[in-house]
Order: sequence, then C-alpha cells, then structure tokens
Amino acid sequence: MYLSAANHRIPLSDGNSIPIIGLGTYSQPKSARKGDCATSVKVAIDTGYRHIDGAYVYHNEHEIGEAIREKIAEGKVRREDIFYCGKLWATSLVPELVRPTLEKTLKVLQLDYVDLYIIEIPMAFKPGDDLNPRDENGKWIYHKSDLCATWEALEACKDAGLVKSLGVSNFNRRQLELILNKPELKHKPVSNQVECHPYFTQPKLLKFCQQHDIVIVAYSPLGTSRDPTWVNVSSPPLLKDELLNSLGKKYCKTAAQVILRFNIQRGVVVIPKSFNPERVKENFQIFDFSLTEKEMKDIEALNKNIRFVELLMWSDHPEYPFHDEY
Ligand SMILES: NC(=O)c1ccc[n+]([C@@H]2O[C@H](COP(=O)([O-])OP(=O)(O)OC[C@H]3O[C@@H](n4cnc5c(N)ncnc54)[C@H](OP(=O)(O)O)[C@@H]3O)[C@@H](O)[C@H]2O)c1
Repeated sequence: MYLSAANHRIPLSDGNSIPIIGLGTYSQPKSARKGDCATSVKVAIDTGYRHIDGAYVYHNEHEIGEAIREKIAEGKVRREDIFYCGKLWATSLVPELVRPTLEKTLKVLQLDYVDLYIIEIPMAFKPGDDLNPRDENGKWIYHKSDLCATWEALEACKDAGLVKSLGVSNFNRRQLELILNKPELKHKPVSNQVECHPYFTQPKLLKFCQQHDIVIVAYSPLGTSRDPTWVNVSSPPLLKDELLNSLGKKYCKTAAQVILRFNIQRGVVVIPKSFNPERVKENFQIFDFSLTEKEMKDIEALNKNIRFVELLMWSDHPEYPFHDEY
C-alpha cells in the first residue's frame, strides 16, 4: 500500500475520517517551556499535519487552541481541516460530569467542537476537580467504573454537536465488547488509542479492532520519551534498533521515519510527539517511500510484547486493562 500525503486520512465507521498522522502533545511539565507546545502545533500545521492529539490533563490544551486559532486566522487552514482529539479523564467518568468536562476542554481550546473525544483510560477515579485523587497515605482513590453509562453520556455530547466522533483509549478486548454489546448502542467507538510500535505491535487487538471497524491510534509510536518516572525502560530503546536503522539507511530515512511508516502502512494511525521543530517536520516525511512486504514482516518480528507504558500504579484497579492478554 502506498500512502501519499494528499490522501493520508482513513475512514471512520461513523462517516468521518481521521488523518493517519497526528502530533502528540504530552510532555512532563518540567521538560517543556511555556509556549513549546503552541510552537510545535503551529510548525506541525505549516508542515501539513491536520491532526493534533491532546488532553485536558496534559495542561497545555490552551496552547493547542491558541495555535489552531492563530493558523485559522492566518488563513492557513479552516476549522474543518483540523482534526483535534481530546480526552475524558478518569475523574470525570460519572455520567453527570461527562458533558461539563468536555465543555471545559472546549472553553480552554476556545473551539465549538472537538473532532474526536475519547475515554482516556477505562479506570474511574474519585470524581471531582482533583485530577490525581489520593488519600493521606498516597494511595489512589478509585471509583466504580460504569463504562456503558459513561458511553451513553458521551453519545449525548455527540448528539448535541460538541464532538464529531467518539472513541476510547487503553481499552482491552473485553472492555471494547462491553461497549459494542451495550443494549441500544447509538454510536460505536470509532477508535481505540493504545501503545503500538515495532516492539509492541498489538497483533491480536489490531485484528479484533479491524473486524469491528475500530481504528487503532498508536500512542508512544516512537517508544516514548523514556522518562523513567512513568515509562518501563527495561525494554531497549526502539530508536536504536539495528534493523530499523539499517532500513533507514536503505531509504535515506531515519529510524523514526521507518517506525512511523511501518504503522501507517498497515492502517494504524500514529501520533508522534515532538516539541522540536526539525523533528516535527521529520516525522511527517513518511509518504515518499514504502516498505516491502518482507520488510513489513521483518519489522513485525521485532515484537517483544513488552509495554513501555504499563500504568502499574493502577494495576489493582478492577478495570485495569492490561491483565488480560489483549
Ligand atoms: N492515551 C494514552 O494513554 C496516551 C499515553 C501516552 C501517550 N499518548 C499520546 O501519544 C503521544 C505520543 O506518545 P509519547 O509522547 O509517549 O511518545 P513518542 O511519540 O513515542 O516519543 C516522543 C519522544 O520522542 C522524541 N522524538 C520525537 N520525534 C523524534 C525523532 N524523529 N527522532 C528522535 N526522537 C524523536 C521526543 O522528543 P522531542 O520532543 O525533543 O523531539 C520525545 O522524547 C503523546 O504525546 C500523547 O499525545 C497517549
């Protein structure tokens, strides 16, 4: 399959479509300066990205909104050209908080709607304004998840025009089936955002999602920032992989470009994060070469089935998604 920059969108089951590459925007507050995120979004839009992945909990959604609005005002893009994905955090999964939380995101962005709104993790935490609710011993305070009730509240947001498409993130097969089999389901999840790259290729979840018209959006597609405060760094650095680097040499590309090309070539959306203008541009230059079938298979064989993002601090939550095989 050869993908060109001009048609780099894939259809969603609800009739909308998603650009196959987006800009990730998560950064630990200590490692980004004020304005880095806005600059990076502006460079991305100028480069040709039309998809931005963000979240209220990343604390930089206001910079994304500012950058998008600036590019619209400049006449560079129209609102309908941009695809923004926002995320519903774990402290807002109770149905009565869903719409006000989405409205908070829209207010921060200063936009009328988001293109995709996803349940960020299937685990509910104590509802309220404290995004990291913990008790006096530092233990996380959980809440009973009722993912179907959360989903119904999201469906109402779509019907009200606040969001174009609905999806999920970090859902395993059982949790996806819970929504897909919900009585009177009105809107299916169009996507599941999960970790996905050559060291964690997700063959089973990918197949299941393809069978149900659910697009996989690959987070940490380059193997994360390897920040040991939240990343399992026992798996070796993906960008240093020998095969990926030698394929890069063959095509006059970097290992990062080969890694991203691998996923988009098998229909997986990628959202690499960079706040470095040169790397933002580099990550988009993946439409002018194509990997052979054998190279795709060789890259698939790199799968180690080890996550960089394990979310182990929540492994005792009843809805922790990663105990299941997939
Ligand atoms: N739903 C979820 O639970 C979830 C979880 C994790 C991430 N996400 C989303 O997915 C996005 C991407 O994941 P991620 O941020 O974990 O990791 P990533 O995109 O795999 O990697 C980002 C790291 O790679 C560096 N980088 C970017 N382009 C590069 C290149 N061409 N060559 C070398 N290094 C490069 C970045 O540094 P520079 O910035 O300095 O370039 C940064 O340190 C996030 O930003 C977020 O939007 C979602």
